[in-house]
Amino acid sequence: MVQELTPEEHLDYLTASIRLMLWFTWHWLDTHPAETFAEVVDTRVDIWRRTRLNPRHLDGPFNWRECPEWPALRERLEALYRQHRAAGNAGAFEEAAAALLAPYLPARVQRDLADIRAGVDLAGYQCGSLRYNLAVDAARPHCVRFHIANACWPASPFDDPRHFPLCFLDLMRQCAATFGVTEIGTGTWLNSSPKWLRLFPAEWTEHLEAPNVDVQGHYGFWGQFVTARRSFNHKLGRQFRETGVLPLPPRFSWCCITTMREHLRRQGYV
Ligand SMILES: CC(C)(COP(=O)(O)OP(=O)(O)OC[C@H]1O[C@@H](n2cnc3c(N)ncnc32)[C@H](O)[C@@H]1OP(=O)(O)O)[C@@H](O)C(=O)NCCC(=O)NCCS
Repeated sequence: MVQELTPEEHLDYLTASIRLMLWFTWHWLDTHPAETFAEVVDTRVDIWRRTRLNPRHLDGPFNWRECPEWPALRERLEALYRQHRAAGNAGAFEEAAAALLAPYLPARVQRDLADIRAGVDLAGYQCGSLRYNLAVDAARPHCVRFHIANACWPASPFDDPRHFPLCFLDLMRQCAATFGVTEIGTGTWLNSSPKWLRLFPAEWTEHLEAPNVDVQGHYGFWGQFVTARRSFNHKLGRQFRETGVLPLPPRFSWCCITTMREHLRRQGYV
């Protein structure tokens, strides 16, 4: 049986993900000199959501303006960045910034574990591990976009091969009935993962758009560093640091509901 996340593992998740985001911020600013420190830290990473300053749950709405204490802490991070930028010492910046943030993390741990156990992140997920938008895609009126979480926690939604097919059948039934759409689609890092792509008909892979490298501070990018148990994925974190390239960049793709249904029918799900 898969073990639940321990408090130590969750603190490691908060610490390791914040450190990766600090490392990322430094290198992003190196290659994007027109952007400010505040812009990068407020939009391309979500460090503030991982601190006790975030009044909501870990996956709550992505709006730091709900958090009046954040700008002052961000300014202290920026002062450290300026200090170490002068010497070009990325490692020293990461150490100093991680030390500044460390006291803001422990208060989250028990709160987050209770939220994770209660499945707070799954609120609004109408079809197990899948959630569809409540309106059709403005750019593609025949299509509804969907999102992915893990309704099987602490196990992986990939462990039971029936899990995602059954979620998709439910999603397609509900979307066709509610919106009259003929297509489903999503932009996610999972579209760079072979085990996710195997769930779909060939049409899905054929429709894959170019990787999105305009990193944003949400799970469409950073969710790849979360394991099924919700610990930090150190393997992918190391890979990102070593290569400087996001291991699994998000890509948009879509397929027709009829093609997906036929694909699942052939596997005996319909
Ligand atoms: C979506 C999600 C459930 C997928 O998780 P998963 O693939 O089942 O995660 P796993 O725990 O199996 O870890 C992924 C891989 O990293 C490997 N891995 C994880 N931690 C590791 C470590 N410390 N050392 C070595 N390997 C590690 C696993 O072995 C696995 O390898 P595989 O893909 O070859 O099987 C999970 O990433 C998640 O909940 N993310 C947050 C939500 C999200 O991102 N949604 C999509 C938004 S668009």
